[in-house]
Amino acid sequence: MCGIVGIIQQTESKIGNEIIEALTKLEYRGYDSVGVASVANGELIIVKDEGKIAEVLEKIDLDSIKGRVAIGHTRWATHGPPSKENAHPHVDCKKQISVIHNGIIENFQQLKNELLEQGHVFQSETDTEVLPHLIEQFLEEEKVSLEEAIIKTVERIEGTYGICVISTLEPDKIFCAKKDSPLVIGINDNRMFCASDIPAFLSYTQEVVLLHDDEFVTISKDNYEIIDLKTGETITRKPYTVSWKPEMAQKAGFPHFMLKEIHEQPNTLADYIRIEQPSILKIAEKIYEAEKVFLLAAGTAHYSTLTGQNLIRRFVKKPCSSVIASEYELIKNLIDEKTVIVPVSQSGETMDTIMAIKNARELGATILSAVNIVGSTVTRHSDEVLYLYAGPEIGVAATKTYTAQTLAMWDIGLELGKISGELDNDEYEMYRTNFKNIPSIVKQTIVHNEARANHIASWFAKKNSSFYLARSLNLQTAREGALKMKEIAYIHSEAYPAGESKHGPIALVEEDYPVVFVTPQDQTRKLIVGNIMEMKARGATAIAVLEEGDKEMEELVKWKFEIPKGYSEMFSTIPYVVPLQLLAYYTAVRRGYSPDQPRNLSKSVTVL
Ligand code: M6R
Repeated sequence: MCGIVGIIQQTESKIGNEIIEALTKLEYRGYDSVGVASVANGELIIVKDEGKIAEVLEKIDLDSIKGRVAIGHTRWATHGPPSKENAHPHVDCKKQISVIHNGIIENFQQLKNELLEQGHVFQSETDTEVLPHLIEQFLEEEKVSLEEAIIKTVERIEGTYGICVISTLEPDKIFCAKKDSPLVIGINDNRMFCASDIPAFLSYTQEVVLLHDDEFVTISKDNYEIIDLKTGETITRKPYTVSWKPEMAQKAGFPHFMLKEIHEQPNTLADYIRIEQPSILKIAEKIYEAEKVFLLAAGTAHYSTLTGQNLIRRFVKKPCSSVIASEYELIKNLIDEKTVIVPVSQSGETMDTIMAIKNARELGATILSAVNIVGSTVTRHSDEVLYLYAGPEIGVAATKTYTAQTLAMWDIGLELGKISGELDNDEYEMYRTNFKNIPSIVKQTIVHNEARANHIASWFAKKNSSFYLARSLNLQTAREGALKMKEIAYIHSEAYPAGESKHGPIALVEEDYPVVFVTPQDQTRKLIVGNIMEMKARGATAIAVLEEGDKEMEELVKWKFEIPKGYSEMFSTIPYVVPLQLLAYYTAVRRGYSPDQPRNLSKSVTVL
């Protein structure tokens, strides 16, 4: 949560546009308030306010923000509600030190009490504000350098943090520290950057240095020095070039990132298929050899792991469960060195997932992850990593990374089927051919269903509640569709096993109540007809995602989304979710909401 960015340029000149441009790329991390600090003419300039960047921009003059260094923050509130006072950056009493922070300082109250006793005056309710005051306290009390005062401060705090500090005392440097919150450095001939995520500076550079936990960095206009805070030693780490292109972090003519990302799916899935990953075989072998397998994830990623769970059960006939990362405690006493954990995550920074895998690792488990962001925390705690190659996903609602995660589960599943002998050579090759056809099926699905989604959305947008029903494999499709509708259109949507819906939920159904059915031509097809009839008998309006040409189903429902024929029904969880992404998107737009920045959410959930 929260996006942080820092920029150092060659001279003291205008820097407002650059810092806001970078912050805009991080707004998916939080958007309830925004702030910038720079040092100009030996003084700190602080501009901050409640609201999204666009709203705050209306009130400020960007050209007035000058400096050689600047830091910026876009907030997802934890300590204290969204307000101008609680917006970062925060400053010390003398207004010499300015700090932005992503994470949570767990011992802030104790530190704040100590600082209050020393006479420090606080302006906000945030945990972060203890940082500039503590730095100030060390400077005054111990007469140390600014760098030493920041290091001493970092040593006193408990919790999670990505921190950037600028000061009038050293107006040409940015000091950063990291623990359990992401921080990367970007290097360009004219500017140096630090940020929570690469898209912040992608339009300037693809040269990146990843920071690790317990590292402290001093960045100057043409250098960076990393210190390992545990040993005090200087670390040499060369930049690497990311494959992401600058346009990947732009909307490319689409009104929202979410719509762009839905449309990108044929390409992202094709990229995943095209790029060979040696880790796939190692991952499949280790899962095959393991005694116990748990897939671990949160939110949308959790739904993708349900495909993994079903495939492992099917192709290895091994007990295996998908576990919601925040419920890891329930399986903790089952973890040992014969256990494999498969964390799945877009960001690789989800705190629930990270905490679970760290503990599982300590208990001896092998960690085999599927992650989108290269070098993220989950990857660093993994024995093997399968990358999703979905590119940057800026819309808060996951779309292209969900289909990539599900495809990755299939990739693992097919290798397992081969190793275990559950799939003979012909079957394996048949499935692999189907696998390669998925991008084209998804492309046709988008073309066939986008206008329909927009049309149905005009009716859906007037509803307050809905059901998404399916059976077997596609229950996760229903869940993901319902989650999308909830998180961006704010319509309460509940996914349920269709067969179970008569055991309670059906009580909510009344005239014209929306019920979305996911109905591929698989073994569930016959039974789901009965469930549609039950709902219709109570007045429900039925919508189905069905296979092209399924006349019987078409007649049962008011509206249909059609999925092209010609691929194994087993892969249906990928194309069948796409119309539900489009339906949620258009419903949100028709209700007047911003699908890219839904209220109360953040793309990267780095709190427990
Ligand atoms: O980065 P991760 O995949 O670990 O994130 C997990 C969830 O926070 C994420 O999928 C969330 O549910 C999205 N908002 C879904 O659209």
